[in-house]
Amino acid sequence: ALLPQVSLRLEALQKHLNTASTNLLAAQALREGVHHGVYVAEQQTEGRGRRGRRWFSPFAANLYMSLAWRMPLGLASLEGLSLAVALALRNALIELGCDAVKVKWPNDLLIEQAKLAGILIEVSGDTTTEAQLVIGIGINVTMMQAPDGAIDQAWTSLQRSGVQVSRTHLLACVLNHLILALEKFEREGFVAFQSDWQNADAFYGQRSCVISGEQVVEGICLGVNEMGALQLETEQGRLSLHGGELSLRAL
Ligand code: ATP
Ligand code: BTN
Repeated sequence: ALLPQVSLRLEALQKHLNTASTNLLAAQALREGVHHGVYVAEQQTEGRGRRGRRWFSPFAANLYMSLAWRMPLGLASLEGLSLAVALALRNALIELGCDAVKVKWPNDLLIEQAKLAGILIEVSGDTTTEAQLVIGIGINVTMMQAPDGAIDQAWTSLQRSGVQVSRTHLLACVLNHLILALEKFEREGFVAFQSDWQNADAFYGQRSCVISGEQVVEGICLGVNEMGALQLETEQGRLSLHGGELSLRAL
């Protein structure tokens, strides 16, 4: 069931049958003055991932949700936010009996290296004093198959991984964990989540590469620093890698 703090804070909880992208609904709500709201859809016709990639969003199979969330923080403080969100989702899934879920920097949840969920955070507004955030989350729930080419990497769903949970229960559990995490992030910043990352990290201690456009850097993943920047031990020494334009791959 929803805990009281969730229902007190949220001004809107809307469910749509079919929409282009719940991130667009949340962005529209922010423009209309909403401070904290949740937008859920049964299906998305233009579900989005990072950098213009698509998020396959078939009807009634998965959870597609976006939070509209105003945070009194400047843009520079938001660097670790997708990591804090990923950790909150992992805790929600663990509470529901899905212990195998790991995080992949900066925005994915994996089970045995297959993608279970993704996070797409979009920021707007005057980003010096208050960030207007759209926090989009897709979690695969009962999806058992996808047409060829719809998802171009290894993926899984809760059901495929042997976890039975209703989407309603999942939504409530995710909101509880997420809202507490966002409030903690607002008060304390990413540093309050840093020590949780190591345990949850699917890549910790592994030889990996980071791709940035044409550039590829190889090294061993050693978690994240207090701002959420990826720590990569390379032959040239330790690198701190920032920002959402990078992709991490196992070697
Ligand atoms: P990175 O963030 O490291 O670049 P990524 O390849 O996962 O990783 P994202 O932009 O985060 O890229 O996610 C979009 C990708 O997710 C798509 O290109 C597709 O491969 C995959 N994808 C799309 N829909 C789903 C889905 N429902 N479940 C799992 N994966 C999906
Ligand atoms: C990623 O891994 O690139 C992020 C995927 C985020 C998908 C969710 S589904 C709900 C929300 N609406 C969207 O269009 N995208 C996010």
